Order: sequence, then C-alpha cells, then structure tokens
Amino acid sequence: MAELRRLTPDDWADFRDIRLRALADSPDAFGSTLTREESFTEDDWRRRLAGPVYVVDDPTPVSVGGIFDNAGRPHVWGMWTDPAHRGRGHARVILDALIPAGTGAQLDVNVTNGDARLVYERYGFVGTGEVEPLRPGSDMLIERMVLVG
Ligand SMILES: CC(C)(COP(=O)(O)OP(=O)(O)OC[C@H]1O[C@@H](n2cnc3c(N)ncnc32)[C@H](O)[C@@H]1OP(=O)(O)O)[C@@H](O)C(=O)NCCC(=O)NCCS
Repeated sequence: MAELRRLTPDDWADFRDIRLRALADSPDAFGSTLTREESFTEDDWRRRLAGPVYVVDDPTPVSVGGIFDNAGRPHVWGMWTDPAHRGRGHARVILDALIPAGTGAQLDVNVTNGDARLVYERYGFVGTGEVEPLRPGSDMLIERMVLVG
C-alpha cells in the first residue's frame, strides 16, 4: 500500500536514490542535472533535506517533492513520480502535504511539459506568463505558476 513519508536528513540515501532517478528520467523537467548531483556528498544530500521533502513509498520511494521559502513564498520543487506509478494521485498527496493552507505557493514548469502542467492546473495552479531559461545558457523555457483559490 502506498504511504506518505516526510524525509529527515537521516533518510539522505533514500532521497539520493529517487532524486537521481528523477534527474535521469526527466532531464528537462528540472533546473539541476544528473551530472551535477551525482557528485553531491552525504552532507550535500543532508542539507537538501533541511526543509520539507516528502515521498510516497510503495513500498520504497516512487514519488517525491519538496518546498522551500523563496523570498516569502512557498516554492514547490523536485516533483517526480516513477513512470510505472504515475496517475495514481501520488503527486497530489505530496502537494497536499507540502503546501501550507491558504498560501500562494508557486512553482516553475517547462513550457513543453504539458503533462505536468495539466497536473498542476487540476490542482489549482495557474500560469503567470513569466518565463525564464530552464538553466543558464539553456534555450528551453520554464513558466512560473501560482496556486490560486
Ligand atoms: C508531474 C508528475 C510529478 C505527476 O505525478 P503523478 O503522481 O502521476 O500525478 P497524480 O497522479 O497525482 O496526478 C494529479 C492529477 O493530475 C491528473 N493527471 C496525471 N497525469 C495526467 C496526464 N498525463 N494528463 C492529464 N491529467 C493527468 C490526475 O488524474 C490527477 O487529477 P485528479 O487528482 O484531479 O484526479 C509526473 O507526471 C512526473 O514525474 N513527470 C515527470 C517529471 C516532471 O515533469 N516533474 C514536474 C517538474 S515541474
């Protein structure tokens, strides 16, 4: 049975595993890269778990997402579900756990990532039209979305 779990810094090896799977599976969905994060140390992984990161276990992690404070606004990052487990509501469960009620949470989505955009729109996010490069030097664009209502 699928279960939600908040990761602590001691869960760094679990996090490393699912995060590297996410970066390998969906290189255009994230600002960071597999090459960059493969060189992270245990301390780097532990630091990334200082803020809220949740996984869904089935029975090991199959879905992940985190949130951090971006100049006073909660910013969702790192959303990924193993392809064999998509469409089962795991991302929704993680967003529910991550996002404090009533806050105008935000996130960035690749403008070509129609599947993720649909998931976020069903959740209540709307596109702002603000775009910027996926990462410095990239010709791919991400668009800021904000949660309304
Ligand atoms: C985006 C992603 C995390 C969604 O994960 P998921 O666990 O499959 O999402 P859920 O099953 O919770 O879906 C949430 C909602 O979107 C709907 N949905 C899911 N996939 C969909 C699709 N391809 N088309 C339309 N709707 C879809 C679900 O039915 C659900 O709606 P509901 O709760 O109203 O019934 C996953 O597709 C993924 O990992 N994509 C690759 C990485 C990525 O793009 N990450 C986002 C970076 S911004």
